Amino acid sequence: MSNETWLITGGAGYIGTHIADEFIRAGKSVILYDSLYQGLEPRITYLRAHHKTEIPFIKADIRDYNEIEGAIRKYKVDGIVHTAALKAVGESMEKSDEYFQVNLEATNELIEIAKRNSVKKFIFSSTAAVYGSPDTMDPCTEDGPKAPISPYGDSKFQAEAKVTAFINTPGNFGTSLRFFNVVGTAAPQLLDNSVENLVPIVLGKLNKGQAPEIFGTDYPTADGTCVRDYVDVRDIARAHLAAADATSALPPAMNIGTGRGASVREIIDLVLQATNKSDTEVIQSPRRAGDPAFLCADVSLAKSAMGFTSKYSLEESIRSLF
Ligand code: UD1
Repeated sequence: MSNETWLITGGAGYIGTHIADEFIRAGKSVILYDSLYQGLEPRITYLRAHHKTEIPFIKADIRDYNEIEGAIRKYKVDGIVHTAALKAVGESMEKSDEYFQVNLEATNELIEIAKRNSVKKFIFSSTAAVYGSPDTMDPCTEDGPKAPISPYGDSKFQAEAKVTAFINTPGNFGTSLRFFNVVGTAAPQLLDNSVENLVPIVLGKLNKGQAPEIFGTDYPTADGTCVRDYVDVRDIARAHLAAADATSALPPAMNIGTGRGASVREIIDLVLQATNKSDTEVIQSPRRAGDPAFLCADVSLAKSAMGFTSKYSLEESIRSLF
């Protein structure tokens, strides 16, 4: 299995490059495909230098089906890791058509291309957003209620069904991995450049001398702020390798998290400590619409199905950013 060739869509992205890093280390060949709409080519430059290997890169949109089919044929791809997506929850409310086109239709087309070209393995990047905004304080289980509240979550949830149909065909193999809140980095060159999530937002504010902001301090949690399951991007990459190398059929979808919750206040405190700015003022703002008080993964399925457990502590993830 180690000499397989995998196409990674979103291959210049924060998550895609971490998966590439892990796969190359395990002896697999990777072909990276990315439009560079959000991806960054210097991340690929870093991977090439770090692993001292030539990594083919195709700069094209995920909706450019001729380009993607050409790449699959040229490189005789064995498996596809499909991370390419639009991922800004707020933006998805305004641009829902585009989100369904990129996240659902393109996934469907990619699966059709895989079938036409005898690609048997498909691992799909899904998200905890498929669970929506649960009103319980129980960890989410894969077979529990799915009620996405954004076009982003809905497009990913519907795309999962296409992936499930593919992997249910005899001879095919794969799964959808539902990421919780992804943090950390393997190297400064691979950092998350998005501006939508808590940790990058707090770091951005500190760099500009501004005060971090907590959205809601009156939730029914231990310290009143929202609790999430923050999982290291290197663990996300390890989960993909475990899925790619699994020798028996996998469940159609698995949570990838740590199984441990951390509050917004705890995260901000860790970032302030790591930057020696513990005396910085923190603004307490009203709740942000749509935020569940608690969203954590039940991680037992990934453990039983492919022996995967997360390895990095939250402190290690935050430290990796500096
Ligand atoms: C959101 C999406 C999730 C998606 C993820 C990554 C929802 C319900 N969830 O997760 O599906 O996979 O983004 O794109 O839409 N916060 C602050 N101050 C800030 C920024 C954030 O207090 O300046 C709080 C938020 O209110 C939230 C927590 O930090 O409670 C985490 O926020 P964020 O990083 O945006 O992720 P989620 O909303 O959990």
